[in-house]
Amino acid sequence: MKKLLYQLDTDALPAVFDNVVAYDGGADHVCAYGGVNASNVGALVEGAIFTRGPKDKKNTAIFIGGGNMTEGQAVLDAVQKKFFQKFRVSVMFDSNGSNTTAAAAVAWLSHGRSLAGKRAVVLAGSGPVGQRAAVLLAQEGAEVAITGRKLAAVQSACDLILRQFGVKAEPIEAPSNAERGAALAGAHIVLATGAAGISLLEAKQWQEHATLELIADANASPPAGIESVGMADRGLTSHGKTLFGPLGIGALKLALHRACITRLFEQNDLLLDAAQIYQTAKSMVG
Ligand SMILES: NC(=O)c1ccc[n+]([C@@H]2O[C@H](COP(=O)([O-])OP(=O)(O)OC[C@H]3O[C@@H](n4cnc5c(N)ncnc54)[C@H](OP(=O)(O)O)[C@@H]3O)[C@@H](O)[C@H]2O)c1
Repeated sequence: MKKLLYQLDTDALPAVFDNVVAYDGGADHVCAYGGVNASNVGALVEGAIFTRGPKDKKNTAIFIGGGNMTEGQAVLDAVQKKFFQKFRVSVMFDSNGSNTTAAAAVAWLSHGRSLAGKRAVVLAGSGPVGQRAAVLLAQEGAEVAITGRKLAAVQSACDLILRQFGVKAEPIEAPSNAERGAALAGAHIVLATGAAGISLLEAKQWQEHATLELIADANASPPAGIESVGMADRGLTSHGKTLFGPLGIGALKLALHRACITRLFEQNDLLLDAAQIYQTAKSMVG
């Protein structure tokens, strides 16, 4: 029986990245729908849950993506509302690569060390990757702060993760490199999750820092989010700090994304969201 993945994307054009990884993860056929929202997803879900018998349902799965994590979350909630008894299929939620990228970054940061009691600052963390990374860092025991250009936006990201995950993060308004540097006072970990090609921190701000131990940058589009962190750095030591660059994180992110797609077809009732994807990342890292 063919493994069918329904790629439901909240953007008008479904992401090619998610489509390719779906095939590489083992789907035989990927049906990609754009413009999916909480109001129009119902009929798509019915098609997925009412077509195959109980033993065969694991060969149908749903992937929810798109650039807007709030809209993606609403689609996930609407999908799950349609499920009842055994009429369900496995679902992966990864708007903008949020869960897989954050899980890969935090799995590397916590690999072989405890983050408990460390102060972690997520630079430009109001986006999908930053929010999820903040949650995972806090769940690893770190004391987390998120910076953003406007307090209102970063406060609303912190409110959202408190509501959804019960996790506290301190919002910090830091619109310039100097203010982001100041936000790092007493920090042990800095993770940059700014928009592609946005520079957030100069080299000397981390190289001369007294307390920083771990430096990670998710942004793969030049210029770097954190100056002088190499694209492929993965545990490199420089200036007494351990560095992780976007491709160093990205290799695990891709392998993780594929592994999660594979898992979708092993049973018909799996939900792969932040916690489950992070557990998979921890089992793969290193
Ligand atoms: N390495 C990998 O494998 C991998 C995989 C997926 C994604 N990524 C990268 O991960 C990063 C985060 O992704 P995302 O989807 O969460 O990002 P995003 O939503 O596009 O941007 C994150 C935050 O960047 C801030 N920002 C935007 N423009 C800015 C500017 N001009 N100056 C300063 N800050 C600015 C915004 O925060 P405020 O408005 O609050 O300031 C925004 O919420 C991106 O660079 C993405 O390319 C990497």
